[in-house]
Amino acid sequence: MDKKRFYITTPIYYPSAKLHIGHAYCTVATDAMARYKRLQGCEVMFLTGTDEHGQKIENKAKEAGVTPQQFVDDIVEGERGVQDLWRLMNISHDRFIRTTDGYHVAAIQRIFRKMYENGDIYKGKYEGWYCTPDESFWTESQLVNGRCPDCGREVVRASEEAYFFRASKYADRVRHLLTDTDFLQPASRVNEMVNNFIDCEGGLQDLCVSRTSFTWGVPVDFDPGHVVYVWLDALFNYMTALGYENNAHDDLNKFWPADVHFVGKEIVRFHAIYWPAFLMSLDLPLPKHVYGHGWLLFNGGKMGKSFGNVVDPYVLAERYGVDTLRFFLLRTFPFGSDGSFSNELLINTINVDLANDLGNLVSRTTAMVEKYFGGTLPVSRQDSDADGELKAMAVSLRDRYEAEMEHFQFQNALSEIFRVIDRANKYIDENEPWKLAKDEANKARLATVMYTLLETVRICATLLTPFIPESCEKIFASLGGCEDCRGWDEANVWGALRPDVTVSKGEALFPRIDAAKELAELEKLLAAANAPAAPAVEVEPPAEESVDFDTFCRSDMRAVKIKNCVAVKKSEKLLQFTLDDGTGTDRTILSGIHKYYEPEDLIGKTAVAIVNLPPRKMMGIESCGMLLSAVHKEGGEEKLHLMLVDDSIPAGAKLC
Ligand code: MSP
Repeated sequence: MDKKRFYITTPIYYPSAKLHIGHAYCTVATDAMARYKRLQGCEVMFLTGTDEHGQKIENKAKEAGVTPQQFVDDIVEGERGVQDLWRLMNISHDRFIRTTDGYHVAAIQRIFRKMYENGDIYKGKYEGWYCTPDESFWTESQLVNGRCPDCGREVVRASEEAYFFRASKYADRVRHLLTDTDFLQPASRVNEMVNNFIDCEGGLQDLCVSRTSFTWGVPVDFDPGHVVYVWLDALFNYMTALGYENNAHDDLNKFWPADVHFVGKEIVRFHAIYWPAFLMSLDLPLPKHVYGHGWLLFNGGKMGKSFGNVVDPYVLAERYGVDTLRFFLLRTFPFGSDGSFSNELLINTINVDLANDLGNLVSRTTAMVEKYFGGTLPVSRQDSDADGELKAMAVSLRDRYEAEMEHFQFQNALSEIFRVIDRANKYIDENEPWKLAKDEANKARLATVMYTLLETVRICATLLTPFIPESCEKIFASLGGCEDCRGWDEANVWGALRPDVTVSKGEALFPRIDAAKELAELEKLLAAANAPAAPAVEVEPPAEESVDFDTFCRSDMRAVKIKNCVAVKKSEKLLQFTLDDGTGTDRTILSGIHKYYEPEDLIGKTAVAIVNLPPRKMMGIESCGMLLSAVHKEGGEEKLHLMLVDDSIPAGAKLC
């Protein structure tokens, strides 16, 4: 029989700044959902990625003195960038899309053309208000106190020739989708969408879907000067990543329509109104659900670099462990509503749920089996009515958990598990194993008490796996591996753990924290992480836009022989070159070209370097100069070619 399929997505992130814990929130939730579906036996496609075009990126790159492509490459692939963070957070995505990927760019051009040809995209003139940070156009009536209704920032008057998407044509169908189906969840978000954007004065407005004021975007191939609006470009990632209008992937029939798009509440508008309208225009099936989750607030406001209140997930994960952070995010805040992050809440969750309740249950139980039975349970048993309540709660847990997970109610699903964990801790106190252990005659009863606890732990660990996968791995290891009893099918079955199981206590899963001391420490750490950092862009300094002849002549360009070339540890882009520059002393230069070359292929070649640039430290290594490369764009993707010259040119020869 074919496995059930499940396709889930996160929003693709703007690599305009490093991610914060608010971004991690949605991705962790999506990961928990994907792992839960895999646990159930589904074939899952979990997509995430980055949304890399737009004016904001173009501006930021300019400020940083690098090309937009270099700018996004660093934030996406560089040290402590987006991909690093997802690795650290144990995110199990099946695919990662970057909107600068060549296949996506080409697909967007085809999609834009199709909508132009079917008459849903037409040329007009845009006049209105533009929020640069949000890249959104607004009409006068949509502004709140003259500012952007999404972020509250200043807007500027803008007017340009542009292409428009005929959203108005789909107003009735979108209204029906929102009000008569469960497409948009939670249902509390429906009225806001319908009232503010469809049944508002003037009705659903056509959407401006091209820009001419900047160039960092997907070019409209039949009208040079226009680039495709980032939201049209970005939303279609959910389909191009499966192979829509491209040959890079081939999973469209298998996974489209998506089961659910998880998105933050401020981008529900794009997902619940324009996205379905775009799909309607192309006669494509609609995603089954869009779930608009709440925000993690900090000091009552939305977290963001510009607000100076970013909580750095690296700091928290490195200090408390990845599972702790994952757990905290989904246990503490109801997914559909806003939640206020605080350090106190975090430490409290660690101490109460993880250390006291779960950690304690596992360590007490395994320690007692070691102490009373040398680690291996005897098979003789003596059941009692005293076991009934806990057993019943544990075997029926899976159903209650499933009901919550199916509605993305992670907090409630975890509450169900912790009710059972609480009950198990109480069961220990009621049955007082330490007293039973005093009398040999109680051995069978003691074995039953221990087995009841181990079975409860096994069931809870199975259902906790989507949330804290590494810790559950450790729990299963201390329960003898549980190879054949840790699946979904065994999670509502009593007695799956072998009766003569051998357990081991293992290290403490979640050590308790001294709250008062830790709070002071944590505040300092987070404040330090919020301090403005030196730009971490791993690229050579950009060349000046124009130079006079004398300045140009001061650049000392030399032929250099590549003696050795290796990849720089922890960097996806940098290669470290050891060069003979004719002086007799080796020269080290770092260059961000690993994406285009294997280091060993370059050894022995002759390249060109500027050798009189001030040394620059990247990833802890001093780079003395810059290797020259040629750059060009192919299918929207930037390509670098190292300038290699005739090997007969001796090392140190000056270029003039
Ligand atoms: N690039 C768009 C999404 C395009 S999807 C086709 C975007 N990117 S974003 O990086 O700005 O935000 C990504 C997600 O992070 C959004 O869903 C946003 O709501 C979420 N969050 C950003 N800050 C957040 C919090 N403080 N709390 C919870 N989620 C937050 O929007």
